[in-house]
Parts: sequence; C-alpha cells; structure tokens
Amino acid sequence: MTVATRQTRELTHDELVAADARLAEWLVGEPGHSLLDTYPQIFAPDAEVAAYGAFEGDSLRSHAAVRRVRMSTSQATLEASLVGVVATDPTARGAQLASGILHRIADREIEAGQDIIVLWSDLWEFYAKLGYAVAGVQAELSLTRPEQHADGCRPFVTDDLDAITELHAAKPWRVIRDRAEMQRLTTETRTDGFVLERDDTVVAYAFHGKGVDFPGWWHEFGGSDEDVAALIPAAMHALDQPTATVLLPPYRNELLDRLVPHGTSLQEGAVALCKPLTDRGRCQFFIDGLDSV
Ligand SMILES: CC(C)(COP(=O)(O)OP(=O)(O)OC[C@H]1O[C@@H](n2cnc3c(N)ncnc32)[C@H](O)[C@@H]1OP(=O)(O)O)[C@@H](O)C(=O)NCCC(=O)NCCS
Repeated sequence: MTVATRQTRELTHDELVAADARLAEWLVGEPGHSLLDTYPQIFAPDAEVAAYGAFEGDSLRSHAAVRRVRMSTSQATLEASLVGVVATDPTARGAQLASGILHRIADREIEAGQDIIVLWSDLWEFYAKLGYAVAGVQAELSLTRPEQHADGCRPFVTDDLDAITELHAAKPWRVIRDRAEMQRLTTETRTDGFVLERDDTVVAYAFHGKGVDFPGWWHEFGGSDEDVAALIPAAMHALDQPTATVLLPPYRNELLDRLVPHGTSLQEGAVALCKPLTDRGRCQFFIDGLDSV
C-alpha cells in the first residue's frame, strides 16, 4: 500500500484557477459555483495574490489565499494582509490542514513586515486558537423599502469610475484603491451598483450583492451620509427589492440614524477578525464589501 505524501506549498496561479470550482463547493457547500466573480482580486489572471494549498499527493485538500493591501485606519496607513477562501475538503477536515496553512501565512506576513492580518469568518473559536480576535463592531440594519425615494438614482456605468474612486478616497477608514483596482472590483464582480447624480455630478454610490457573497446586502457605499441615505431606498426601488440589509461602517452613525426609521431590526456584527503583527496593527479599521475576500 502506498501512502500519499502530504505537503503545504504555494499554488501557481494556474493551479488556483483550476481549483476554483472545488474551492467554491467547499465554501458554499454545494457544486456548480465559481469564485471568479466574487473575488476577482484573487482569481483574475493578473491578480496579485499568494495562494497556499495542503496537498495529499497531487490532490489539493485545503487552501487559503492572501492579498496585501494598504489600509487607511485610525492609527496610520498600514500594510495589511487580507486572508480569504480558507477551505478544506470536507473529507479531510479536522486534520490541522487549514491551521497549518494559516500558521505558514502568518510566518510569511511577519517576515515581510506586514502590520496586520485580516479575515472574515463566523468561526470565532477556530480563529481565536490561531490568535485572531474580533476587530470592531459594524451595524447590520434590515430595511423595508420606504415608498418615498429620491430622484437622480441610476445604475453605475464605467464612466462613473473617476467619481466613485474619489468618493471612496474620502472615507476615513478604507483599503486604498487606485482607479484600476476600483474598475476590477466594480466590473469583474457580479454585483449591482447604483449612483446618485445631482446637477450632472455623481454624489454617492452603493453596491449590492457580490457573487456568492452578500446576498440581499448593501455592503459598500460612498458619499455623504445624507446622499447615501437618499440613494439606498431609491436603488432598492430600481432593483425592485422590498427588503434588504445594510452593512454600516462604525464611522457612519449619522447614516444609521437616517436609515433607522425604515429599519425592521438592527444587529451588531464583527467588522472582521484580525491578528495585529506590529504595534501599528493595533488599530480600528473598516473594509468595504468589495475588498473583502
Ligand atoms: C473552517 C475550515 C477551513 C477548517 O478546516 P480544517 O482543515 O478542518 O481545520 P483544522 O483541522 O486546522 O482545525 C483546527 C481546529 O479548528 C476546529 N474547527 C474546525 N472547523 C471548525 C468549525 N467549523 N467550527 C469550530 N471549530 C472548528 C477543529 O475542531 C480543530 O480544533 P482542535 O485543534 O482543537 O482539534 C473547514 O471546516 C471548512 O472548510 N469549512 C467550510 C468553509 C469555511 O467555513 N471557511 C471559513 C471561512 S473563512
């Protein structure tokens, strides 16, 4: 009898792309999905990402990807490592494969001088054992669409990229994006984008849904609290959406106050789980939906 050898190593991008459907099945729990239009920043051919796999022989059994970004936070501009698509073959779970990959990623990011590792998961206990803690609190507001809504809402088009890149740059806490990154995230992701236009100027934007992620959620917006509060109900009408959930950053209290009259329930959620690697990494931050992996 031969026993397949086990190893953890970096995947080539071709191997990562070839594993897309399998990773989607491990994450979503059913076949027939792709992660390319959920996480183009990981799966697109020119994505700048490092992907690690635990293999048994030639077979991939567990995976995690890491993407380095610059992040504007309460402390300073930080070098952050966003970890995502953490998934193990259901037949190989409990064998420390994901933990092994995550330890390896942490060692690599420490060595590279990164300030913080960030990831998104409900499995707080699993990640607590690996040194991750809840990073902060976000409001998650369930809304019923109000009848009254503002004029000037229309679907996002690529000609809006300059305007929405500027609106994103005005946020106090964010992943720093250039126009090309904004283009990738808004045009290669399966998402519904809307803008609010006033006097021929785009004053706000909002995105809903994201591939297999964020079904029924408004997870990213830019512009003043007043304009975003006008845009979301109008965009719900444009999408013919009677109810939705809005994910509110910690710095958007005024927006929350404006939307609460239309809310049916308000919950607190975790901004993310994080593992600070430097003193600067002990900060408050928020990452918009299109950046999350
Ligand atoms: C979460 C997941 C990646 C863990 O993979 P894994 O290779 O089985 O993890 P490990 O074997 O390294 O687990 C290590 C520890 O975490 C615990 N653990 C694993 N999955 C867990 C879960 N779903 N809930 C709570 N604890 C869990 C294990 O019991 C083990 O504990 P121990 O060290 O005390 O024995 C895997 O369950 C999975 O693919 N789940 C579906 C996708 C998912 O939810 N991904 C996370 C989103 S980022």
